[in-house]
Amino acid sequence: MEKTFLMVKPDGVQRGLIGEIVSRFEKKGFQLVGAKLMTISKELAEQHYGEHKERPFFGDLVEFITSGPVFAMVWQGENVIHTARQMMGSTNPKDAVQGTIRGDFGLTVGKNIIHGSDSTESAEREISLFFKDAELEEYSKLI
Ligand code: CMP
Repeated sequence: MEKTFLMVKPDGVQRGLIGEIVSRFEKKGFQLVGAKLMTISKELAEQHYGEHKERPFFGDLVEFITSGPVFAMVWQGENVIHTARQMMGSTNPKDAVQGTIRGDFGLTVGKNIIHGSDSTESAEREISLFFKDAELEEYSKLI
């Protein structure tokens, strides 16, 4: 079953959006297989966002993502990587259409509420950075 890594960022947690965000993915039909509220270390932030290391905003990004608790999650389901990205909306909330998470709740690219893996490779990498195998649940196939 396809899996993706999603994370409510510090702005989304502090604004009380965890429930709203979890609810959207549940109602869509995806299954939550792992979740934790945690404060990310600088080392983990730099690993997670390693591909942006040379970008001018990298320092601000690491500072922001480590500034307070995040809600890290693993979700599974048919085409969950692509569909979750669609449900999140464009990276910059000013371009995100209404009805998407960033379109409905975000204003700026720095504080854009949620992160989601953009490919199978990044999903595998990000899930293993944040979760041990034993922290991921399995669901009965009968339901
Ligand atoms: P995310 O999907 O978590 O992946 C990388 C993040 O970098 C992105 O969301 C944005 O929050 C952030 N980002 C991208 N561009 C900028 C920018 N110009 N200034 C600050 N942050 C940015």
